[in-house]
Amino acid sequence: MKTIDELLSEGVAGRRVFVRADLNVPLESGTITDDGRIRAVLPTVKALADAGAKVVVASHLGRPKGAPDPAFSLAPAASRLGELLGSAVAFATDTVGESARSTVAGLSDGQVAVIENLRFNPGETSKDDAERGAFADQLAELADLYVGDGFGAVHRKHASVYDLPARLPHAAGHLIATEVGVLKKLTEDVQRPYVVALGGAKVSDKLAVIDELLGKADRLLIGGGMAYTFLKAKGHEVGISLLQEDQIPAVTEYIERAEKTGVELVLPVDVLVSPEFPDLKTKAPTHPTTVAADAIPADQEGLDIGPETRKLYASKLADAATVFWNGPMGVFEHPDYAEGTKAVAQALLDSRAFTVVGGGDSAAAVRLLGFDEDAFGHISTGGGASLEYLEGKTLPGLAALED
Ligand code: 3PG
Repeated sequence: MKTIDELLSEGVAGRRVFVRADLNVPLESGTITDDGRIRAVLPTVKALADAGAKVVVASHLGRPKGAPDPAFSLAPAASRLGELLGSAVAFATDTVGESARSTVAGLSDGQVAVIENLRFNPGETSKDDAERGAFADQLAELADLYVGDGFGAVHRKHASVYDLPARLPHAAGHLIATEVGVLKKLTEDVQRPYVVALGGAKVSDKLAVIDELLGKADRLLIGGGMAYTFLKAKGHEVGISLLQEDQIPAVTEYIERAEKTGVELVLPVDVLVSPEFPDLKTKAPTHPTTVAADAIPADQEGLDIGPETRKLYASKLADAATVFWNGPMGVFEHPDYAEGTKAVAQALLDSRAFTVVGGGDSAAAVRLLGFDEDAFGHISTGGGASLEYLEGKTLPGLAALED
């Protein structure tokens, strides 16, 4: 894979460089609540601008339906990028139309522009190769060179991720190089004990990675909404907790396989329950109760791991040499249910392990709960992408940069 350093050494001054970033940041009423992904692409954008390139930054945001939708505009991300760069960033109000063409044509050497959300064009995410290719052809007209740096989207076979690099000389940006380097440490030469903490709402999102990790990790700690499907598979009642009944056979097989292969599969021993899901806007107190994981009342919902589980998981993380953590342990957005996620984050900081926090919710949780993100070995910007990498899948956006 060609690196951005090689590209820079060949000279980029005066050249239009398309940077496929992942600026898919969380927004609340148009305000960015976590700018981690914008900061993550800064080294690449700065390096190109400092070298005199005309930098065209592109990304998706959310999942609009292939047409412009103001709720998913990249305008807030573009202005935040400008603030972080300390210089004005031009913004094109379309992807490959008049605004994009004139904005790019107006760039001077060292200037940066952001074009509007790529998913406003149906060609970006199309399953039809020709439709995607046609959009990639239009995007290619905006640039002379391509730098892939949207790690969070490399698992998507999308026009700007997969088809565009085939049309332009290309290289991997600093973020992708860092992310891949870290994930290689988890797959090629992992230091043991290798402990994985998995949380998040849906077990179905994690099945493939659990399948793969049962042959790789020494210990798997399960939390979050997905834990209740495991508890149910063990024969416990879970009240009105999140449950994916259809996943019980798969989960049962994992529990049996873990026993056979000696992988320690650790489930919550207690949980915090409440009759209602908390209001994440008002954060009104809910007065949860702590119950044993095998005694969840029929009218209650499990919303976080309990205090004994926090201690248990911390002890299971204490002697790790390598930790991968993906997915919150509970509804961390509400203070009543943040302690489980905090305890896992703190245990990662307390251990001497090389710690990797998978992207998405767990990365946002680390920042929102006030942890110093620099204290972790690595916080990935890609939730789905890092999981698919660990599953051993070929990621379209990385394959495209290899050729
Ligand atoms: C993410 O948030 O995981 C990436 O930006 C990819 O977004 P997507 O799941 O909508 O493709």
